[in-house]
Amino acid sequence: MNTMKEYIDEAEKDLLHTYNRYQVVFDHGEGVRLFDLEGKSYLDFVCGIGVFALGYGNKEYNDALKSQIDKIIHTSNYYYNVPAIEAAKAMKKISGMDRVFFTNSGAEAIEGAIKTARKYAFLKDGKTDHEIIAMNHSFHGRTMGALSVTGTKKYRDPFEPMIGNIRFAEMNDIESVKALINDKTCAILFETVQGEGGVHPAEEAFLKEIRKICDEKDILLMLDEIQCGMGRCGEYFAWQKYGVKPDVLTSAKALTCGVPAGAFMMTEKVGTHSLVAGDHGTTYGGNPLAGAAVVEVIRQFENGNINEHVKEVGSYLWDKLEEVKNAHSDIVDHRGAGLLQGLELDHPVADTINKALDKGLVLINAGTNIIRFLPPLVIEKSDVDEMIDILNTCFE
Ligand SMILES: Cc1ncc(COP(=O)(O)O)c(C=O)c1O
Repeated sequence: MNTMKEYIDEAEKDLLHTYNRYQVVFDHGEGVRLFDLEGKSYLDFVCGIGVFALGYGNKEYNDALKSQIDKIIHTSNYYYNVPAIEAAKAMKKISGMDRVFFTNSGAEAIEGAIKTARKYAFLKDGKTDHEIIAMNHSFHGRTMGALSVTGTKKYRDPFEPMIGNIRFAEMNDIESVKALINDKTCAILFETVQGEGGVHPAEEAFLKEIRKICDEKDILLMLDEIQCGMGRCGEYFAWQKYGVKPDVLTSAKALTCGVPAGAFMMTEKVGTHSLVAGDHGTTYGGNPLAGAAVVEVIRQFENGNINEHVKEVGSYLWDKLEEVKNAHSDIVDHRGAGLLQGLELDHPVADTINKALDKGLVLINAGTNIIRFLPPLVIEKSDVDEMIDILNTCFE
């Protein structure tokens, strides 16, 4: 067997270098812990960037997938399959949305949302110059449409021209949104809690005001809950805390806990006035394996009362990170919701994250100066205590 170092050297020869990877090869996981190829154990506060919510080595999840694999993994969207039908029903129940389209990733869910908004507006006036308002510091993915609505210029610049007619406003600055609205505006898109762009939650007043504007002008409110949804903030979807329901909603990551999948959903009104047969499609999206994963994940959320658990452990994590913040003058801010929280430092955090990894704690950044905490949703308070102990030693 190769050593970890040998595998890393191989990877650097063979994989396209689009990531500056941490120098570790993870081999397997158990609960909230990962193990590298050499058997070293790590407490995981990243869970594959908000994916593996229900813990590694989850027997019921594994069994559900295995049994679906033994039956059938893939058919085609030209035929019906029971797991996808059940998955759509379960998602409607937890989201209050009426129509579901399954994708293979988060970015692809955003592509679908953009197409939905454009088609909805096109059917109203037959014009093709509609605009979408997105937010600065947002992150919606790396495909061309998703990149076009991502509010970090340096990600977009090398790949210009983007898709046209995207305008950027400032999250939680309602005047900056109002200043961009005109007769061409067809949708306003943002993450209910910005993740990768720095862990910035949308304020309740901002959400409510946007909803009001969208209702008045028949503009679609599209919330991206690919990272902050599926229990991460203590509700199935973060907007549910405020009762501000979107017209279009995107999901992925913890939706299937590891099977590559996502979804965009919409209200009946949008569903019946936008995409029709021939407008959109996917080979893999909503295949039986992905459907089985969605059904099993939602079943475990319900049975395990995961959202309540997140509220409780999330508020414990909040208190503990407040203590860390108060003890270190280089920590300038602490933000977030549920089990998506961030500490902003007055300097880059790469060294701290590497130190933590060395000490057996997996953390990740959000931008250059922010440490992001997004552990599996099944962590316990004792795991938070262990993480805080290691984190404190990294600041010393
Ligand atoms: C909020 C948000 N939207 C979209 C995406 C893109 O998802 P994917 O990487 O599955 O394409 C991400 C990924 O991190 C995300 O956090």
